[in-house]
Amino acid sequence: MCMDDVRREWDAEADTFDLEADHGLLDPISRAAWSDLLTRILPPAPARVADLGCGTGSLAVLLAEQGYAVSGIDLSPRMVERARAKAATAGASCTFDVGDASSPQLAESSYDVVLSRHVVWALPDPASALRRWVALLVPGGRLVLVEGRWSTGAGLTTDELTALVSPLVDSVRVTPLPHAALWGKDITDERYCLVGDIG
Ligand SMILES: C[S@@+](CC[C@H](N)C(=O)[O-])C[C@H]1O[C@@H](n2cnc3c(N)ncnc32)[C@H](O)[C@@H]1O
Repeated sequence: MCMDDVRREWDAEADTFDLEADHGLLDPISRAAWSDLLTRILPPAPARVADLGCGTGSLAVLLAEQGYAVSGIDLSPRMVERARAKAATAGASCTFDVGDASSPQLAESSYDVVLSRHVVWALPDPASALRRWVALLVPGGRLVLVEGRWSTGAGLTTDELTALVSPLVDSVRVTPLPHAALWGKDITDERYCLVGDIG
């Protein structure tokens, strides 16, 4: 699929995207679950976070509200529009730009964290995108990827993503994410957070 088609497809999703519990974080239980997960994994605020494929900005705004300095990028202008509106409503000072996460227009060696949820699996060349993402990190920085191999058959298994990330970082750890509170429902498929640290 060409980039214009991908953009159009996600633009069309933007208006209803937040209806899923893990997308909109509208339910306080889901919101608290993601907040707890991310604050356990991320270095303390005001760490600088690049949220790549940020969608409607739910995670970015959640982190900005806790004092993180977040820059979000998404290919879909409609997603970015919604993310900016969400930040404005929350009074959060994160920034959002339209761009291709495969080659983000962000300064290298400038972020404490590169965060991405449910994006790597859909990129045309995830290995080269991940190389660029790691280059955005400062020494001691952290790559945080929330991914899964969903019951639909789409996605990346833990082993597949670990194989892609391991050559790029100094250490990798994976936390399974089976908890219903994160997803707003019980799940049986493979969902996880992979954390890669560089020296
Ligand atoms: C499943 S959504 C996840 C959104 C957000 N990360 C979240 O977890 O709520 C995937 C997002 O990735 C974006 N996306 C897909 N390919 C992209 C690319 N090459 N560059 C930037 N964003 C992309 C889509 O526009 C969409 O907003």
